[in-house]
Amino acid sequence: MGKLFICDHPMIQHKLTFIRDKNTNTKDFRELIDEVATFMAYEITRDLPLQTVKVETPVAVTDAKIVSGRMIGLVPILRAGLGMVDGILKMIPSAKVGHIGLARDHETLKPKEYYINLPTDAQERLLIVVDPMLATGGSAIAAINSLKQRNCEHIKLMCVIAAPEGVKAVQEAHPDIDIYIAALDECLNEKGYIVPGLGDAGDRIFGTN
Ligand code: URA
Repeated sequence: MGKLFICDHPMIQHKLTFIRDKNTNTKDFRELIDEVATFMAYEITRDLPLQTVKVETPVAVTDAKIVSGRMIGLVPILRAGLGMVDGILKMIPSAKVGHIGLARDHETLKPKEYYINLPTDAQERLLIVVDPMLATGGSAIAAINSLKQRNCEHIKLMCVIAAPEGVKAVQEAHPDIDIYIAALDECLNEKGYIVPGLGDAGDRIFGTN
């Protein structure tokens, strides 16, 4: 079973409080999501492998570490996932960025892919699927399905707030995927919002509410 990591760093939890606040304006909300994404990128890269190289300081030659292993790709789910991309890139500037767009199919009521564009070497990369809200898990599951259908096997999921229902659904559908969140909230309400959550993440990032 993939692991669930709750990024409980005090700075993340502090910023999350203002993200949740309904009185936080669009500019501040966007900046706070960006900042939390940077901190979460720090946590999600914690297990990256290192290799030893020689470096010549002004004083001596020494062994030092650099990150090795797979290059990273970010895959934000449109549209709210876009709000986390710049923050993650501050921590992982060399990451390439793909995009997945999902819309609800009127017949099946399930998320259906309407757009996908991935780095050409996506299969070689560690892909981080990004969406601020893990509610029912439907979008995350569909996005990961799309990546696996394209032979991408190294995938992590990063969300700011998750409902227990969404975590369970992703873990059941994709038991190989590690999930990184900043908070595990109480439940979903009858409209599919996370409680207490933060409302509609896309609307609050883009100011469309
Ligand atoms: N998507 C959101 O933006 N907010 C929720 O609470 C659930 C899904």
